[in-house]
Amino acid sequence: MFEHIQPYAGDPIFAVVAAFQADARPHKVNLSIGIYFDEEGRLPVLPSVQQAEARILAEGGAKGYLPMEGDAGCRAEVAKLLLGPGHAAIAANRVATIQTVGSSGGLKVGADFLKTWLPGSAVWVSDPTWDNHRSMFEGSGFQVNSYPYYDAATGGLRFDEMLACLRGLPARSIVLLHACCHNPTGVDLSREQWQALIPVLRERELLPYLDLAYQGYGDGIAEDAYAVRALADAGLTFFVANSFSKSMSVYGERCGALSAVCATAAEADLVLGQLKFTVRRIYSSPAIHAGKLVAKVLGEADLRAQWEGEVAQMRERIAGMRRALHDALVARLPGRDFGYLLSQRGMFSYTGMTQQQVQRLRDEHAVYLIASGRMCVAGLSRANVERVADGMAAVLKG
Ligand code: LMR
Repeated sequence: MFEHIQPYAGDPIFAVVAAFQADARPHKVNLSIGIYFDEEGRLPVLPSVQQAEARILAEGGAKGYLPMEGDAGCRAEVAKLLLGPGHAAIAANRVATIQTVGSSGGLKVGADFLKTWLPGSAVWVSDPTWDNHRSMFEGSGFQVNSYPYYDAATGGLRFDEMLACLRGLPARSIVLLHACCHNPTGVDLSREQWQALIPVLRERELLPYLDLAYQGYGDGIAEDAYAVRALADAGLTFFVANSFSKSMSVYGERCGALSAVCATAAEADLVLGQLKFTVRRIYSSPAIHAGKLVAKVLGEADLRAQWEGEVAQMRERIAGMRRALHDALVARLPGRDFGYLLSQRGMFSYTGMTQQQVQRLRDEHAVYLIASGRMCVAGLSRANVERVADGMAAVLKG
């Protein structure tokens, strides 16, 4: 029955985590998967989340099914978090938000929905992008192409080439964009570049699909929603999948959402109905605890304020680690440019290291990066940053 099945090569990110866990060297450092660790190398449990959970427990409550679209409080809070409270699109009921199983669940529901309702469209992703984007959209039956994005020569953006490519796409092409903290490169569009992109999206009638997995890790919670708000202010129709895995440190709870900002309330209603049907066909309805948790942290004023402070602390610690690694590398390899560590934003940096260098770093120094050279800066700490710099410097010297 199953002899013909092809062996699974493994996921490029989760496979590195498994190798790290199997490594017996006590000084090993995990800079692979996009997870925030604190200064002690622990996965933090945020006090705001802990208190929200205590309140949920104290309230008791049966554990019935959520509706297909998820918890109503969670959905309303997510729309406000993304667009800003009182946004005209929310007031006009033009936003269809569903709670999803992480933002991966949201991306997948959106992909299946779009394959049904825009069957002739192709998907365009940045070169490079999160490995799973391509698999996910191909899994929904799309042809997935890439648009120019990262410039390996400068460590910046190939913005003119990106615009030229998007200008040449057929109407209704789906353009996947990272709203902030680009994964894997850490290179984002500036506000001016988003403003230059918007007319192209509008004139070419493209459908932007934003992935917002690292909100709060760039410049701030509201600041990192700039792209979402700019597209909404410009009156574009678009999708956005967002995650709380990193911003609330609730990876395994699968807290995420998918929102469609539509031209009219009637369209949003149609989209919501078909998103519900899509959910029903995949996993029926999302998890009740995840929905309540997000609704509580975002919706109760004291918890919300506390959470925003906690996100700021995580963001600032990462910025400090970027600076520390930068300085440690410059001290070891003077004359070499490590400015990318300071200019790239969020959890990730693209180090430009080759697959062979990444392998040597792992074999000889027990420092784990993704094969593409992507480093999760959030795995650095005062305790390991000098060691990581030693390893990188040794490998980069050749
Ligand atoms: C990552 O890119 O490392 C994270 O988004 C985790 C994942 O699911 O790949």
